[in-house]
Amino acid sequence: MSEGKMAYRCQQCGYLSTKWLGRCPECQTWHGLVEEVQSRSSRRPSGGRIEVVRPPTLAEIPCSQESRWITGMGEWDRVLGGGMVPGSMVLLAGDPGIGKSTLLLQALARWGEERKVLYVSGEESPQQIRLRADRLRLDGTRIQVMAETSLEPLLETLERHPVEILALDSIQTVSSRNLEVAPGSISQVRECAGRLMRLAKESGVSVLVVGHVTKEGAIAGPRALEHLVDTVLYLEGDRTHAFRILRAVKNRYGSTNEIGVFEMKETGLDEVPNPSQLLLAERPMGVSGSVVVCSVEGTRPLLVELQALVSGSGWVQPRRTSMGVDANRLSLLLAVMEKKLGFNFSQQDVFVNVAGGVKLVEPAVDLAMMAALMSSTLDQPVPPGLVIWGEVGLAGEVRGVTHGALRVAEALKLGFEEHLIPRSNAERLPVELGTACTGVRSLREVLDSIFASRAT
Ligand SMILES: Nc1ncnc2c1ncn2[C@@H]1O[C@H](COP(=O)(O)OP(=O)(O)O)[C@@H](O)[C@H]1O
Ligand SMILES: [Mg+2]
Repeated sequence: MSEGKMAYRCQQCGYLSTKWLGRCPECQTWHGLVEEVQSRSSRRPSGGRIEVVRPPTLAEIPCSQESRWITGMGEWDRVLGGGMVPGSMVLLAGDPGIGKSTLLLQALARWGEERKVLYVSGEESPQQIRLRADRLRLDGTRIQVMAETSLEPLLETLERHPVEILALDSIQTVSSRNLEVAPGSISQVRECAGRLMRLAKESGVSVLVVGHVTKEGAIAGPRALEHLVDTVLYLEGDRTHAFRILRAVKNRYGSTNEIGVFEMKETGLDEVPNPSQLLLAERPMGVSGSVVVCSVEGTRPLLVELQALVSGSGWVQPRRTSMGVDANRLSLLLAVMEKKLGFNFSQQDVFVNVAGGVKLVEPAVDLAMMAALMSSTLDQPVPPGLVIWGEVGLAGEVRGVTHGALRVAEALKLGFEEHLIPRSNAERLPVELGTACTGVRSLREVLDSIFASRAT
């Protein structure tokens, strides 16, 4: 392929084509091909001697204790793995309007107290940033700002006025002169992120980039960068709710799946040190279809209310709607309930919702989801002091999950006296925790132990 010529690469399988195709001939994915341009800067000089040195052994590598830059915002520092590592690159991704710029500005203000920080925005003018900082009551004296959408002037500025932390909002608004494609296109986003990554590694500046999640996911969304950066954080939440969850989905310097919980307020994102209590505050008591689950995200146990509604359908194809849990997982669990317990959902609309706009991704939610579905179908509430968690297999068996003791301890702390959990977890609990736990091995046992009379 000649230099500067357009090529199209499949995001699924890596198939390379010289013309755009709606469907990848290799893996058959629709709309998977995105444009890719060979950049001039990546061209290698031809000819010339290449210097060769013996690669050092690990023991010869100078070792300095890894330092961390902390903000003092506990939730943020913990999700980063204990603070920002100098010379690392972090991607902060999320839906537009979820609060990325707000969170970033708050973190920069804290870092700014001790470090040199620069906030580069391609989305807002310096005046708008100033207004936001005033609204968030942040000290603006230590944050340098710059409105810039071109990569080269930005790099030039950094060379002349070096900083320790650089924040770029957002990666989709900057472009490099090396490429003749529009900002936000996949090749621009990759090129700019790649050069910032090199800057981070060579100069030791820590780089934070914001990435908007795009609807299609394929065009220049944060996904295109995940492999490149050191750490990927997603800010999630429902815009109609105040809760925001910051989740580490990749971290070269810390544990993944770590979460931090924030609440969106007029004055910005506030840390929520005890999220379970807040999430359960509005839980209705004695109502069918409502179940409390203990989910562990990273190292953090979280008690959340899960709600199900099963009601007669007027549609030929009944509706399946899930918010906060995986839709495929819901379909699978409904099929298991039909096959193993004799429930019939063919004429029923099914809705599942996680209260507070929280998203639950781990399989330990299965059992609670099923209990909520049973409760709604039978119109029998589960006891209000009961917490349910466990994974369910295709044969209707209840499987153990990790962090059993942590889950029980958290639930006890919040006043939940009964625990319906997998048998294998119950057997391994310390004696003082195990007394209030009922261990189950099959769905049938779940049904029998919670609901006195059965309608199916
Ligand atoms: N003037 C304001 N007063 C109160 N809340 C605001 C104001 N402006 C923005 N917000 C809140 O901040 C959110 C936008 O946050 P922002 O950090 O700009 O999101 P992102 O950078 O992810 O697009 C809005 O959804 C709103 O809840
Ligand atoms: Mg923004």
